[in-house]
Amino acid sequence: MIRIAILASGSGSNAEKIAEYFQNHKKIRVAAIVTNNPNAGVIDRAKRLEIPTKIIPNKDWTHPERVLDFFQNSKIDLIVLAGFLRLIPGFLVEAYPRHIVNIHPALLPAYGGKGMYGMNVHRAVCDNKETESGITIHLVNEEYDRGEILFQARCPVDQGDHPEEVQRKVQVLEHRYYPMVVEYLAGGTERLPHPEYEKDPLS
Ligand code: GRF
Repeated sequence: MIRIAILASGSGSNAEKIAEYFQNHKKIRVAAIVTNNPNAGVIDRAKRLEIPTKIIPNKDWTHPERVLDFFQNSKIDLIVLAGFLRLIPGFLVEAYPRHIVNIHPALLPAYGGKGMYGMNVHRAVCDNKETESGITIHLVNEEYDRGEILFQARCPVDQGDHPEEVQRKVQVLEHRYYPMVVEYLAGGTERLPHPEYEKDPLS
């Protein structure tokens, strides 16, 4: 079994989709959900899904023994970030080369970097009158949103779309593709999914 840990700081809708996708998988299991936020919505979702949760508080992320030991003792093979709002420490990147993946709610390299998360991203996309947005799934290194890009999918931003509408369109893509890209990275399938252009993701 390939064992995945999902790291999330917020609501955890992507974490839930990924966990559901692998519920009866022959080779891959979501073994833990890890959060830095004791109030994160993802904790309730993990309970419902019966997946063990580990809270590693912010003050502990600079201590290799409080972070690495957990992942290694839990025999984690792959780390999946799903709305995890901390920079991944170098010692973890080094321990998991090409085995930490993140999803970003825009078409990197545009709209990435520090401070570009959540609604900030979608507001910036609307302010700049972009005509499309989408998702980027990339490997994680020690800089925000700068690791190798594995997969992108696009959707239109229509004139007059509010940031909330863009967020909803992007979320459709996130939920559809992130589990499949994780499956590819975990060796459960040989091919990355082929992104369809979503003319109307909300329909
Ligand atoms: C998603 O938009 C993801 O792209 C970003 O953080 C958000 C997490 O949303 N990295 P959720 O907590 O999975 O609903």
